[in-house]
Amino acid sequence: MKLLVLNGPNLNLLGRRKPEIYGRKTLDEIMVELGAYLAEKGAEAEFFQSNHEGELIDRIHSSIGNIDGIVFNPGAFSHYSYALRDAIESAEIPCVEVHLSDIHNRESFRAVSVIEPVCAAQVSALGDRSYFVGADILLSRLGG
Ligand code: DQA
Repeated sequence: MKLLVLNGPNLNLLGRRKPEIYGRKTLDEIMVELGAYLAEKGAEAEFFQSNHEGELIDRIHSSIGNIDGIVFNPGAFSHYSYALRDAIESAEIPCVEVHLSDIHNRESFRAVSVIEPVCAAQVSALGDRSYFVGADILLSRLGG
């Protein structure tokens, strides 16, 4: 069982970016904890962050055939990237969309995700725990 944990734009700034909303942990700290959690569950994980839509799409494409599930925080691309939505849909790899913040109770533009309809689930508002819950949903869905 191999998961890809994919992070979109500005998530490389976690820790210093609006800590009152996104928390004080860096992305690296969260990903290290998540990797250890997944290893305990017998799952392998790859981690990738990019600020560029095309790089995220390329990584989704290159996951076809070697990744069983994707935990995806698309950042602001969640709200308007039909290209990322098409990539997830075309790859046919089960995906769970995650957000640290409560996207349904912030600015109105954040309440809509164009990625959600092609995902198995959406997890938000749990801070860094959203990644762990998202991974758990994928593992139980994949039977791991
Ligand atoms: C986010 C929510 C998005 O609206 C925002 O653009 C982000 C982070 C979150 O994890 O809460 O970059 O995806």
